[in-house]
Amino acid sequence: MRLAGKTALITGAARGIGRAFAEAYIREGAQVSIADIDIARAHETGIQIGATAIEMDVTDQTSIDSGVAQAIDAMGQIDILINNAAVFTAAPIVEITREDYARAFDINVSGTLFTMQAVARHMIETGIRGYIINMASQAGRRGEPLVAVYCATKAAVISLTQSAGLNLIQHGINVNAISPGVVDGEHWDGVDAFFAKYENKKPGQKKAEVGAAVPHGRMGTAEDLTGMAVFLASGGADYVVAQTYNVDGGQWMS
Ligand SMILES: NC(=O)c1ccc[n+]([C@@H]2O[C@H](COP(=O)([O-])OP(=O)(O)OC[C@H]3O[C@@H](n4cnc5c(N)ncnc54)[C@H](O)[C@@H]3O)[C@@H](O)[C@H]2O)c1
Repeated sequence: MRLAGKTALITGAARGIGRAFAEAYIREGAQVSIADIDIARAHETGIQIGATAIEMDVTDQTSIDSGVAQAIDAMGQIDILINNAAVFTAAPIVEITREDYARAFDINVSGTLFTMQAVARHMIETGIRGYIINMASQAGRRGEPLVAVYCATKAAVISLTQSAGLNLIQHGINVNAISPGVVDGEHWDGVDAFFAKYENKKPGQKKAEVGAAVPHGRMGTAEDLTGMAVFLASGGADYVVAQTYNVDGGQWMS
C-alpha cells in the first residue's frame, strides 16, 4: 500500500498502459480518476477497476480544465498526474502530412504540457508536494526511418520533462518520465499493421521480430511498467528530478 491515501489522475487510461497504471495505483491504495477522449471505454474500465471515469480531450484547453476540475471534485485533490494519452503515427518522410504532424504534436506534446500545467497550478495553489509522470518512449531517444513524427513528439516529451522538472521542484513537485520500449497491446496492433503495409510483413510478424530483438527476449507488457510508475509517485522518489527512465527490457541505455 505504497500510495495509501493518495489521489491520481491518469490520462489515456481507458485501455492499455494507462489502465494498467490505474489498476496498480488502486492496488497500492490510491484513489484514481481515468481521463480519456473515449469516454465509453473509460466508463467501462472505471467500473471494472474501481476508478472514476472522466471525459477529457488533451488537445482542448476547456476539456483539460474541466477534466482536472472533475478529478478534484471526485477525489478532493490531485497528488499524482500521469500524462499517458498519446497517439502513434508513422509514414515515410515524403508521405507525412501537415494534418498528421499537427494532430500528433497536439496530443502527445501540447496535451502533455497543458495538462501538466493545469495540474501543477492546482498543486502549487493548494501546497501539494505532488508527482507528475510523463510517458516518453524509446522512440524519443533516437529517430526511426518511418516514424519521424512520433519520435519527435516523444523527444519533445523528454525535453519538457527536463524543463518542467527543473522549474517545478522549487514547489516540491517532482516531474519525471518513463520511456518504454515495445509494449504489446492494442497500440502495438496498430503499429504491426503499419509495418505490415510498409515493410511487406505478415500480420504479427513485426511484433515477433521486435520482441526477439529485445535483450530481455520478449515484448514488454503494460504490467512491466507499473513498478516504475509506483516508485516515481512515492516518497522514495523525492530526490529524483527531471529524469526519464528506460523500462524497456534493455533496449536503450542512457
Ligand atoms: N505500447 C508501446 O509499445 C509504447 C511504447 C513506448 C511508449 N508508449 C507510450 O505509452 C503511453 C500509453 O500507450 P498505450 O500503448 O497504452 O497506448 P493506447 O493507444 O493503447 O492508449 C492510448 C489512450 O489514449 C487515449 N487518447 C488518445 N487521444 C486522446 C486525447 N486527445 N485525449 C485524451 N485521451 C486520448 C486513447 O483513447 C487511449 O485510451 C503513450 O504515451 C505511448 O506513446 C507506448
